Amino acid sequence: MSIDKVAAEQPFNVTEKYSFEDMIVVKDLKMHFPVTAGLLKRQVASVKAVDGVSFGVKRGETLGIVGESGSGKSTIGNCLLHRCVPTAGEIIYEGHDLAKITKTGMRRLSKHLQMITQDPFASLDPRMDIQQIVCEGMEIHKMGDKKEREEIAIRMLEMVGLNPEFRHRYPHEFSGGQRQRISIARALAIQPNFVVCDEVVSALDVSIQAQVVSLLMKLQADLNLTYVFIGHDLSVVRYISNNVAVMYLGKIMELTSSDELYSQPLHPYTKALISAAPIPNPRVDRARERILLKGEVPSPIDPPKGCNFCTRCPYAEKRCFQEEPEFKDVGGGHFVACHLV
Ligand SMILES: Nc1ncnc2c1ncn2[C@@H]1O[C@H](COP(=O)(O)OP(=O)(O)O)[C@@H](O)[C@H]1O
Ligand code: SF4
Ligand SMILES: [Mg+2]
Repeated sequence: MSIDKVAAEQPFNVTEKYSFEDMIVVKDLKMHFPVTAGLLKRQVASVKAVDGVSFGVKRGETLGIVGESGSGKSTIGNCLLHRCVPTAGEIIYEGHDLAKITKTGMRRLSKHLQMITQDPFASLDPRMDIQQIVCEGMEIHKMGDKKEREEIAIRMLEMVGLNPEFRHRYPHEFSGGQRQRISIARALAIQPNFVVCDEVVSALDVSIQAQVVSLLMKLQADLNLTYVFIGHDLSVVRYISNNVAVMYLGKIMELTSSDELYSQPLHPYTKALISAAPIPNPRVDRARERILLKGEVPSPIDPPKGCNFCTRCPYAEKRCFQEEPEFKDVGGGHFVACHLV
């Protein structure tokens, strides 16, 4: 019997199809949000927030996702954590398809999948002290007794570089960087395998960003964590990621190792993003070629025909407006969606 047939008969046990190294494999994921109108709330269109993306994240590694605001990054994170149920596609985590899993099945797995978000102040309950905040998830997942949970909370606060003596203080008594550390401690206290970090350093000062990113990397090594790291600052994403996916209007335009993406970008959109990012050395910065993107990102309700990037691409030719380019491996796991590559 073929492996595909086994997988079809056992939808929640398809590990045979994937390598043990893969913690998550995503195939042709789509998330289309309905747009409704009128009293009867009839669906009149859909927002194609994520429109057919495929990628894998290896155990213990980090996949970075970059792209402009509205390109679908957070929606991918929300689908991975079952915060929204995808319109189509597969999300294979440890042999389970999270795109089709039941609520009960997801409740069992949710302990292993955590998210850390951009705005810790909004997500930390101001009426709870930080020990209660870090213990809350463990309580929900019925981990240990009260004393054990408190011991874990103290250890987690130490791990993220906060003084446990301050555990009875409240979120407003901490700085932005410290609050981000509290939300990291809260997510990791549950001992997840897989963590989505959605713009976790975007709101912080540059010096604090570096500290939080280094902390995430240290915790990853110590606790063997697998990350999806979402951001719009290319230099930060590059630093933490093994592989990087570049998103534009709900699709991945390019996906390869972090080093290759920055040294040999192949997609016109990636080239434009990299050329727009500042370089600390002003002489090098002035001398390099810049690709300026004209116009606005089209609406995900009505994306262009053909290549999603055709309305802004400086190299667009006739077929770019008619045919969608295939997302293909151009060698050594370097994926690009462009007719010219
Ligand atoms: N719940 C929702 N309902 C309708 N549209 C949504 C919803 N969530 C996100 N979107 C839309 O999907 C697109 C992608 O959003 P998002 O994933 O938040 O992008 P990013 O994180 O890259 O900024 C945007 O156009 C956004 O307005
Ligand atoms: S397929 Fe055409 S429009 Fe799209 S990125 Fe390539 S050259 Fe530009
Ligand atoms: Mg977002």
